[in-house]
Amino acid sequence: DAPRPLAGKRALVTSGPTVEPIDPVRYIANRSSGKQGHAIAEALRRLGADVTLVTGPTSLPDPPGCTVRPIETAREMLAACESALPADIAVCAAAVADWRVAGESDRKLKKDGSGPPSLALTENPDILATLSQPGPRRPALVVGFAAETGNVVDYATAKRARKGCDWIVANDVSPGTTTFGGADNTVHLIRAEGAEEWPTMGKDAVAARLAEAIARHFNPPSNP
Ligand code: PMT
Repeated sequence: DAPRPLAGKRALVTSGPTVEPIDPVRYIANRSSGKQGHAIAEALRRLGADVTLVTGPTSLPDPPGCTVRPIETAREMLAACESALPADIAVCAAAVADWRVAGESDRKLKKDGSGPPSLALTENPDILATLSQPGPRRPALVVGFAAETGNVVDYATAKRARKGCDWIVANDVSPGTTTFGGADNTVHLIRAEGAEEWPTMGKDAVAARLAEAIARHFNPPSNP
């Protein structure tokens, strides 16, 4: 049988976009497909972890063996994450909307001749920063993602400090890349010790390598 170094560990993974309603039929969302987050859930499961996947709407099948909690909004994602605690590991790969529409309408906005409506936005909770807060419920290892369009390592290093997570996986989402939605990803893994550049790989391979790094973190190779 394959080794299961994460047996007995509980992992929480977020994936996909969040969807923020404008009115009953319209919403604000983003281009996340869930491929990267779902692959991470599956890779952690393969190493033996007990995985809860909290995911926005995607067209992907549920990863085998994981508990899947579907959500739509950032606030629902936060609530689902909090109810999945305690966990030893949290990996936040979801593309959470930073803002939602303030005062969403419970009726369809009408084209009534008075011109387009203006949408006021209000800030969403930050799930990664909330999970990273010190306290008894903090997972021992919190891994965030950083989607950047330039100065990838510098901005992601600053994001790691600001959000209080342990590791951050930085990826470039500039126009011309297919980081959102594509099959491959090129990432840097940023830890306290510094940044490591990984070659371009399939999202499954990025997930497998990240899961191996997490397993090593919990079971460091013993010194001879
Ligand atoms: O889903 P795919 O199509 O496979 O694409 C993968 C991906 C590009 C979405 C993924 O690799 C990725 O980068 N995910 C994070 C996207 C993002 O929202 O990045 P950010 O730099 O805006 O956020 C930084 C971190 O804070 C992320 O871990 C994010 O989950 C988290 N966050 C952000 C805002 C918020 N309100 N709450 C959060 O928890």
